Amino acid sequence: MKLWLDTANIDEIREINAWGVLAGVTTNPTLAGKEGVPFEQRLKEIAAEVDGPVCGEVISTERDGMIAEGLKLAEIAPNIVVKAPVTSEGYAAVTELAKRGIKTNMTLCFSPAQAILAAEAGATYISPFLGRVDDIGNDGIDLLNEIVEIYRVQGYTTYVLAASLRSPQHVVDSAKAGADVATLPHSVFKALVKHPLTDIGLKRFLDDWEAYQRALA
Ligand code: G3P
Repeated sequence: MKLWLDTANIDEIREINAWGVLAGVTTNPTLAGKEGVPFEQRLKEIAAEVDGPVCGEVISTERDGMIAEGLKLAEIAPNIVVKAPVTSEGYAAVTELAKRGIKTNMTLCFSPAQAILAAEAGATYISPFLGRVDDIGNDGIDLLNEIVEIYRVQGYTTYVLAASLRSPQHVVDSAKAGADVATLPHSVFKALVKHPLTDIGLKRFLDDWEAYQRALA
């Protein structure tokens, strides 16, 4: 399972990219709005920084507008992926963008039926929003499991991108479910590293090494 960052913040992207494990980036209009710089400019910066797919979302809600925006976004860099919602207009736009060889990510997926339509439309990625499903009292991992199973049975080649992840446990469960990609906020990416026993164990090793060197001296 590839690990992507869900942010439009270039400092967060540079920090995690330095770890060597960052495989892509997702953005959305909410994340872009926090940055105070023109969206196209930021996407260009991100696409130059990251050696992998970088998703930019269309704002139009109609097919032709989505296609026009998608084509413009795709011109920014070869690794741009166009995000569009799982609406009837979105499926129509993605079908056309796919025909033109443009990579797409269908977003705001909350049901297996929407995921089937995305695969039939030729989307490159489908993004079920696990955390937001949990927020309304359902189980986001159940949704992910269903989509992964349907795609396996049907032989769909659309990649399953687990989104709206809120904790390291979400990441672990997404990996167990067979997601192709998990996109994480910066805080969850940082939390993946942490385990108190690692910190305690490392401190003990270093203290013991120091005592050993003192004893030799
Ligand atoms: O970028 C899409 C998705 O990951 C949003 O997550 O936390 O706003 O539900 P969230």
